[in-house]
Amino acid sequence: MTRMTIKILVIHGPNLNLLGRREPGVYGRTTLIQINSQLQELAGKMDVELRVIQSNHEGEIVSFIGDNADWADGIVINPAAYTHTSVAIRDAIAAVGLPTVEVHLSNVFSREEFRHFSYISPVATGVICGFGAESYILAIKAIIGEIKK
Ligand code: DQA
Repeated sequence: MTRMTIKILVIHGPNLNLLGRREPGVYGRTTLIQINSQLQELAGKMDVELRVIQSNHEGEIVSFIGDNADWADGIVINPAAYTHTSVAIRDAIAAVGLPTVEVHLSNVFSREEFRHFSYISPVATGVICGFGAESYILAIKAIIGEIKK
């Protein structure tokens, strides 16, 4: 039996490079480097390959999605503040047509009202939020399940 390696894009939006020092009461003390290494460890155990980007620039995220559309089987994205503003990232996800899990560290629904609206959710397969760094682990497991369907 040949097993195909599953390929996933992991996208971290603006200010997530500051995790660890950024509002730790909201986002926790885990750094982005620690999150990424937890994800790579999980991927290694599950025959999954990750391409990971953190960007503070909307267009860079849009290009990363489009440029990797033929390589990837699915997307895990924390669009961060762009969740609430970006038609361009939403359109990129819709354009490539890949299963996508939207992830947030914090429970956006227990926070300010402007965080309750997401441009991304309507084009995502599902949304995971509120579990801190664990949200990403759950998201990777969820997208693998979707891809295998
Ligand atoms: C976030 C929630 C967003 O509202 C916020 O702008 C972020 C992080 C989260 O992971 O909880 O930057 O996406």
